Amino acid sequence: MGEAGKQRSLVFAVNGRRYELLDVDDPSITLLEFLRSQTPFKSVKLGCGEGGCGACIVLLSKYDPVLDQVEDSAVSSCLTLLCSVNGCSITTAEGVGNSKDGFHPIQERFAGFHASQCGFCTPGMCVSLFSALVNADKTNRPEPRPGFSKLTVSEAEKAIAGNLCRCTGYRPIADACKSFAADVDMEDLGLNSFWKNGESDEAKLSRLPSYNHSNASSKFPEFLKKHIKAGATLASQGSHWYSPASVEELQSLLQENEANDGTSMKIIVGNTGMGYYKEQESYDMYIDLKYILELSIIRKDQTGIEIGAAVTISKAIEAMKEENEGDFHLESKTVFQKIAAHMEKIASGFVRNSGSVGGNLMMAQRKHFPSDIATILLPVGTIMNIMTGRKIEKLTLEEFLGRPPLDSKTILLSIKIPCWGSRRDISSETDTKLLFDTYRAALRPLGNALPYLNAAFLAEVSFCTNSTGVRLNNCQLAFGGYGTRRPIRARKVEEFLTGKLLSVGVLYEATKLLGTIVIPEDGTSHPSYRTSLAVGYLYEFLSPLIDTLAEISDGFLNGILLKDSKIKPSCDEFGKNQLPTLLSSGKQVIQLSEEYHPVGKPITKAGAAIQASGEAIYVDDIPSPRNCLHGAFVYSTEPLARVKGIKFKPGSSTVGVTALMTVKDIPGKNVGSKSIFGEEPLYADEIAQCVGDRIAFVVAGTQKHADLAANIAVVDYDKENLEPPILSVEEAVDRCSFFELPPSLYPLQFGDFSKGMDAADHQILSAQIELGSQYYFYMETQTALAVPDEDNCIVVYSSNQVPEFTQDTIAQCLGVPGHNVRVVTRRIGGGFGGKAIKAISVATACALAAYKLQRPVRIYMNRKTDMIMAGGRHPMKITYSVGFKTNGKITALKLNILIDAGIYSDVSLAIPGMMLGALKKYDWGALSFDVKLCKTNLPSRSAMRAPGDLQGSFIAEAIIEDVASSLSIEVDSVRNVNLHTYNSLDFFYKSSAGEPMEYTLPAIWDKLATSSSFYQRTEMLKEFNRRNTWRKRGISRVPIVHEVSVRATPGKVSILHDGSIVVEVGGIELGQGLWTKVKQMTAYALSLIQCGGTEELSKKVRVIQADTLSLIQGGMTAGSTTSESSCEAVRLCCNVLVERLTSLKEKLLQQMKSIEWETLIFQAYLNSVNLSASSYYVPDSSSTHYLNYGVAVSEVEVNLLTGETTTLRTDILYDCGQSLNPAVDLGQIEGAYVQGIGFFMLEEYPTNTNGLVIANGTWTYKIPTVDTIPKQFNVEILNSGHHKNRVLSSKASGEPPLLLAVSVHCATRAAIKEARRQLLSWSGLDRDVSNSTFKLQVPATMPVVKELCGLDGVQRFLQWTMGRK
Ligand SMILES: Cc1cc2nc3c(=O)[nH]c(=O)nc-3n(C[C@H](O)[C@H](O)[C@H](O)COP(=O)(O)OP(=O)(O)OC[C@H]3O[C@@H](n4cnc5c(N)ncnc54)[C@H](O)[C@@H]3O)c2cc1C
Ligand code: FES
Ligand code: FES
Repeated sequence: MGEAGKQRSLVFAVNGRRYELLDVDDPSITLLEFLRSQTPFKSVKLGCGEGGCGACIVLLSKYDPVLDQVEDSAVSSCLTLLCSVNGCSITTAEGVGNSKDGFHPIQERFAGFHASQCGFCTPGMCVSLFSALVNADKTNRPEPRPGFSKLTVSEAEKAIAGNLCRCTGYRPIADACKSFAADVDMEDLGLNSFWKNGESDEAKLSRLPSYNHSNASSKFPEFLKKHIKAGATLASQGSHWYSPASVEELQSLLQENEANDGTSMKIIVGNTGMGYYKEQESYDMYIDLKYILELSIIRKDQTGIEIGAAVTISKAIEAMKEENEGDFHLESKTVFQKIAAHMEKIASGFVRNSGSVGGNLMMAQRKHFPSDIATILLPVGTIMNIMTGRKIEKLTLEEFLGRPPLDSKTILLSIKIPCWGSRRDISSETDTKLLFDTYRAALRPLGNALPYLNAAFLAEVSFCTNSTGVRLNNCQLAFGGYGTRRPIRARKVEEFLTGKLLSVGVLYEATKLLGTIVIPEDGTSHPSYRTSLAVGYLYEFLSPLIDTLAEISDGFLNGILLKDSKIKPSCDEFGKNQLPTLLSSGKQVIQLSEEYHPVGKPITKAGAAIQASGEAIYVDDIPSPRNCLHGAFVYSTEPLARVKGIKFKPGSSTVGVTALMTVKDIPGKNVGSKSIFGEEPLYADEIAQCVGDRIAFVVAGTQKHADLAANIAVVDYDKENLEPPILSVEEAVDRCSFFELPPSLYPLQFGDFSKGMDAADHQILSAQIELGSQYYFYMETQTALAVPDEDNCIVVYSSNQVPEFTQDTIAQCLGVPGHNVRVVTRRIGGGFGGKAIKAISVATACALAAYKLQRPVRIYMNRKTDMIMAGGRHPMKITYSVGFKTNGKITALKLNILIDAGIYSDVSLAIPGMMLGALKKYDWGALSFDVKLCKTNLPSRSAMRAPGDLQGSFIAEAIIEDVASSLSIEVDSVRNVNLHTYNSLDFFYKSSAGEPMEYTLPAIWDKLATSSSFYQRTEMLKEFNRRNTWRKRGISRVPIVHEVSVRATPGKVSILHDGSIVVEVGGIELGQGLWTKVKQMTAYALSLIQCGGTEELSKKVRVIQADTLSLIQGGMTAGSTTSESSCEAVRLCCNVLVERLTSLKEKLLQQMKSIEWETLIFQAYLNSVNLSASSYYVPDSSSTHYLNYGVAVSEVEVNLLTGETTTLRTDILYDCGQSLNPAVDLGQIEGAYVQGIGFFMLEEYPTNTNGLVIANGTWTYKIPTVDTIPKQFNVEILNSGHHKNRVLSSKASGEPPLLLAVSVHCATRAAIKEARRQLLSWSGLDRDVSNSTFKLQVPATMPVVKELCGLDGVQRFLQWTMGRK
C-alpha cells in the first residue's frame, strides 16, 4: 500500500495532556474505549455505545492554523474512532472543571440546582452544556448581562436534548442550563441551594457560582497548535488509517486497494453509522474523508448550495440557516431554512456534529437506512455528485437512491440543492407562490428518535385572479422512513393534483390515492398508522389553501406563504402558536422545618459536584487490577431447550478468549441469585428455561473481545421430548403453571362481593385490561469486578441494591463460608429495582470466574444483553366485574389477576400484595379477587420502581374511567365519590391507615383542585375542543394511596480522633439522596451534645461505601423507606455516642468555658471512650406499614393528525410528612413521575414470538427526554406535620409519585374521547356509548392514540365537509 494520506503517529490532547500513539493496532478502537482504558479520565461513561444517550460526550476541538481559529463541538466518544482525533484536543468533564483545580460553574450549578441524582448522566450533560456555552460565547451576538452567557434559554434547554437521564425528570437539569442564558428570567429558575425565594435578581445572581463569558473558550493546547502548524508527523509501520487530503489521493488509494485484492476497506467520516449498524468486523484499511477539502466545503451561488459529502449535518444546517444570503431568492432561502429546521431533528446535536450529510445519504443508498435527509431533499431536485474510479457522474437523488447498492469504492463527493426562485419560469407572476414543508412523526419532538414516517412537499400554486381558489401548478411529494427501502415520490398523487383547482373533493381524492401508495413493507410495525400519517401530512399541507378548510386548520399553516397571502391561518386563542415555546418550566413549593436542623433543609446532594465533574467512581471506573479479565454472558435465545453444546462460529476470531464458564465450573451450588422467596441457578443446567437464561460466561482479555466472543457463540439446542414453552399467562393457566402464593402473602379480600353487586344499579362484567413490561434503563448497565484474595477469599465490587444477598449467593456458589466474601458497593448509576436480584447473578458470575481462574474478572454488560436479560416490570392481564350506583359510587369489584412472573420466583411473590395495596386507593365497597402468579418460560420479572403498585393504581383508574364512561358522567366526579373516608380507609388498610389526622388525601385532593385551577381549566378545555378540529385537550386529576413498609436496617457511626465522622449504613446510595439524608441526620443527632454548630458537624461527616463484612445485615435497598430507616439507625448510633460523650463534656466544662467538638473528641480519645457505635434499627411492629398520599392534575393536548401527545401542564401535591430533605424529595417526586410518563406514554418493551426482547437499545426503546416532560411542571411538597411513628415525622418519596403519572394517561384518554365524539359526529352520530368505553393501551404511544382518534379521520372529515356543502 502506498503512502498517500497514510496517517503517521497519532498526536492529540486530552484535558491539555499530550498523547502520542505511534501505532494503533486496532483502528476500530473508539475514543471512549481509549479514554476509559488508557487515561485517568473516567467521566466519559458508556450508556449505550450507539449514539443514543449522551453519557459519553466529549468536547472535540480542532485548530485551523490558517484562520488561527478553534472549532469546538460536542461529539459522542462511543462512535468517534480514536484514529480520527489526530491533532484534536479533547475535553472531558474532568477537563471542564474538577475538585483539584476548581469546579466549573456548570458543575457547581448542576449541584446547586439538584440536577444530579445517580450522577451517571451528569458529566455528559455538563459537557453538552459546556459546548453550547463555548459556541454561543464565540458568536458576535450582543454582550450579555454580566454573569450570563450569550446562550439563549431555548438553546440552553436544547443543549441537552439528546442526553438521557433516568433519574431527575430533567426539570432541574434544564434549570441549571437556563441559569447561564442571557435572556433568562431568574424567577423561572427552580429550587436551588443558592438563593431563597423573594430575593432580588441581583442578589440571586450574586449567589450563583460566577460565570464570565469572556473566559468561556475551550483551551486549545499550545503544543498541539505548534504541532499542527509544523505539520510534523512520525512514520509508523502498522497503521491502517488513511486520511487523504485530496480527491486525487483518495483515487490512488482506492486504485491501489483494488489492485490489492482481499484487503477489506472502510470509508468513514463521522463513523456514526456504526451506532445503527454495529458492524462487528474490523477492516484492514480505514479511509477518513474528513481531510479532503473538496468534500468538506459548502459552496453557495445563485444556482444553489453545494454541500461536500463530508460536511457534517450541523455545518450544513448552519449554512442553510444563515441569514442575509444576498444570492438567494426569498423562496429558496425559505426552502433551505425549512430543510435546516428539519435536519435539526435528526439524531441529536452531538451526532449531527460528527455525522456527515454524505454518510447519511450513503447509508440510505446502500443499506436502506430510513434517512430524513434523503426524503427532505427528494422533492427539491437535489443533484448527487458521485465518483467511481476516475469517473464522475451527476445523478438526481431519485436516480441515486434507485440504483442497486453502490459498491464500497464508489464515493459520494457532494450534493447540490438547487435554488428554487431561479428555476421557475413563472417567477414574475405575482399570484404564484412556492410552498414547501417537511414533516416527521417521532416519539420525541426534538429528535433522537427515528420517525414513523417523514415527508417533504414542494408545490407551486397560483391564486386565481377571479378568486375562485388556488390552483396547484405542480408538486413534488416525498415520503420515507415508513418501512420502505427508499423514500418515494407519490407520483400518481402529484399527477392527479397537477393543474387542479384545490377543493375539498380534490383533496379527498388525493388522500384516497395516497393511501394506496404509501404502504409499508411487510413486517413493519403499525403499517396503517404510517399510511394515515402520510394522509394527515398531505392534508396539513394543502388544507390551508382551501377556503372551507382554512377556517379550521387550527393554525397548521405549513406552506411557505411568500407574499401577502389570501390564506390566513386560523390561529385561535388556543392555537398551536400558543403552545409554550420552552421545553419546560415549573414551580416548586416546599415548606421548611427547622425542628431538627439540619434535617429538613434542602441541602445539596452529597457528592453532586464530583458527579458533575466525572470524578465520582462507579464500579467500572475502578482501575483494572493487573491481569484483569472481562466477561460476557452467552444467553439462551430459546425459551425452553436442552443445551447440547456451545461452539464459536466457525471461521470467526476468538482473539483474547481465555475461558468459557458453564455450570460445570461451579464448585459449590448452582445458584445465581436469591431472594427471600427462592433462588435461581447461575447457569442453565442441561436445559435453558427461558429466553435470556444464562448459559455460559465468556472470559476474555478485554470487554470488547468478551462481547464479540459471546456474540459468535453458537449454542446447540435440542427440543426433543420437551414440552412446548409457556409464553403467555393464558398458556400458563391452561397448563396450571403457577408459583404458589402462601396464605401469608395472599392479600386480604373485603366485604361480600355478591351483596355489593346486588346493591349496584349498573354492572360491567368481565372487562379486560392488559399491561406490558417496562425496562429499568438505568444509565449504568449491570457491572461487577471480582478480585480473588488470599485463603479462598474474594472481594467483589458490585453495582448492587442487595450486597448482603449477593455475598450469600456468591459464598454458596463458590462453596465457601460467607466471611470469605466481601461485597463492596459505593454508588450505583441508577437501579430502580433492576440492580436488586438481577445484579446478584452478574456479581456471582464474575466471582466464579475470578475464583476459578484466580485472576480478577470484571463485566460491564452491553446495553443489548442487559435489556434482553433484565425481565423488567411484571406484565399483567386483568379481568374485572364491577357494580356501581347511578352516581358512580362503586359497590363491588372483583378481579381475576394473572401476573406474568417469568421463570424464577425472584420477588414476584410480593407483587400481588403491592398491587392490591395501591388498587385499594378507592373505596370499592366489596373487593374480591383471584390472583395467579404465572410461571412462564420468559425472563423472571423483578421489582421495578413501585412494583405492582404502579399496575394496581392504573387498574383502579381504568375501572373508574370505565364506570364514568358507561354512565356518561364526568370521571372526576366518579373519583370524588369513591375516595375513601377515614373509616373506609381504615377498613381497607387495617394496619397502615394511621390516625385520622394523618389521612391527608381529601384535603390535598381539594387543595390541588384550587391551586391548579382544575375546574376553570376543565371548562376552558371544552371551549378549546369546540374550536379546534385537529387538536383536542384533556385534563385529569388523580389521587394515589401508596402503602410502604419499613424494614430493619443497620448503621454504624465512628468518630475519628480528629473529629471527622465516618458513617456506614445498610442502604445503598442509588441516586435517591440516601447519603445526604444520612449526613443531615448524623449532624442533627450529634449536635444534641451541643458542641459546635450543626453546619460544621455536617461538613465532618462522610458516608462510606457499603461493605458486607464491615456492616452486616444490610438487607435490601428498595421500597422507598431505606433512607429513613438508615437515618433512624444512624440516629440510634449517635444517641449512644452522645450519651457516652456527655459525662466527659460536663467534666470538661467545669474546666473550660466552652468546648469545641475537636477538643471533646480528642479528650474522649485520650480517655478511651468508645467512639464507634453500631445499631440495628428494628421498626416497632405497630409502625412497619404506612400510607403515602399524593394528587396530580395533568393536562395534555393530542394532535389528531399524528397521535402525538404533549403534556402541557402537571401539578403535583405530595405529602412528604416532614421531609428530611425537600430538595432530595422533590427530585424523587419529579424523577419518579417522569419515569411513570415513560411507562404510560412511551416505553414499549416488545419481544419476538420466542419471548426474546427485540427493543434492545436506544434506537427502539424510548425513555422520556427533556422534550417529552410536562411543559409546565409544578410540584408542591406538603409538610403534614408530626407523625409520631415515623422517622422524625418524615414519609417516603422514592416510588409513590411514579403512580401519579397515570394522570397523563387519563388526560390523554379524555382528549381521545373528544376526538372520537367528533369523529362520530362526522358520521352523523352524536353519541354512542361504545365510543366512550374504549380502552387506551399502555403505553399510549403515537400509533395507539392515533388509531383511537381514527386512522381515517382526515378522510371522514373531508367526506363530511363535502356532504355539508
Ligand atoms: C443516534 C443516532 C440517531 C440518528 N437519527 C437519525 C434520524 O433521525 N434521521 C436520519 O436521517 N439519520 C439519523 N441518524 C443517522 C446519521 O445521520 C448518520 O449516522 C450520519 O449522518 C452518518 O454520517 P457519518 O459521517 O457518521 O457516516 P459514517 O458512519 O462515517 O459512514 C456511514 C456509511 O457511509 C459510507 N460513507 C460515508 N461517507 C461516504 C462517502 N462520501 N462516499 C461513500 N461512502 C460514504 C461509509 O463507508 C459507511 O458505510 C442517526 C444516527 C445516530 C447515531
Ligand atoms: S454511550 Fe455514547 S451516546 Fe450513549
Ligand atoms: S442522574 Fe441522570 S441518570 Fe441518574
